[in-house]
Amino acid sequence: MVPPMPILDPVVEAYLDEHRTPPDALLVEMEAHGARDRVPIVPPETGALLHALARTAGARRIVEVGTAIGVSTVYLARALPADGELVSFEIDPQRHAAARDYLGRSGAAARVDLRLQDAREGLAELDEGWDLAFIDAAKGEYATYFDLLVPRLRPRGLIVADNALMGGTIASGEPNDIWGDEQIRGGRAFLDAFLAHPSLDATVLAVGDGVAIGVKRD
Ligand SMILES: C[S@@+](CC[C@H](N)C(=O)[O-])C[C@H]1O[C@@H](n2cnc3c(N)ncnc32)[C@H](O)[C@@H]1O
Repeated sequence: MVPPMPILDPVVEAYLDEHRTPPDALLVEMEAHGARDRVPIVPPETGALLHALARTAGARRIVEVGTAIGVSTVYLARALPADGELVSFEIDPQRHAAARDYLGRSGAAARVDLRLQDAREGLAELDEGWDLAFIDAAKGEYATYFDLLVPRLRPRGLIVADNALMGGTIASGEPNDIWGDEQIRGGRAFLDAFLAHPSLDATVLAVGDGVAIGVKRD
């Protein structure tokens, strides 16, 4: 196995790291938790992108698949207006409990509905009219979340999927310590379907681990 490949040139990545607004104390604590317990969480550049997308879309209703300990949840929830709502699904009880604790300290808890539920069930029960959907859970289930979410977005709503480039393996086709052959095959099929979806104007950005973004057509 070859080690994970940075998507960006390391010089560019270092420059961006130095010039980004640093995460606040709560997010620093959550990042340390993620590193200590090997919980995969979005890096700060992806968190900042999620926040900017939610603000730009004027999002009032956000749905997230894969809370983990709540890092991306904090970035998204802080972008909502006071009467906004964010529903986030997680199946791991320990991570769900940790997210509840952190969200309680984030200043955005009143807007967040953390659900300990398999997203495949939870999404099927959701109504329509969501402004932004963020997918970041089991890679083999991305297509299922996607198929459940696209019809539930409002026109011009955003659908965003993390790990779209899987550390560069989607492009290289070479497995590494994190992504194996089967995941690369699945990831490529998912990204192709995402980018070609007839209801979306879609693109993919080399931010973090790769972020696919689709805007639902009117
Ligand atoms: C990559 S982590 C999420 C990281 C989080 N979005 C962040 O950046 O802070 C993926 C999470 O999805 C959860 N998960 C996996 N399959 C799920 C499912 N079917 N429904 C809900 N959560 C799921 C896992 O337990 C894991 O904690």
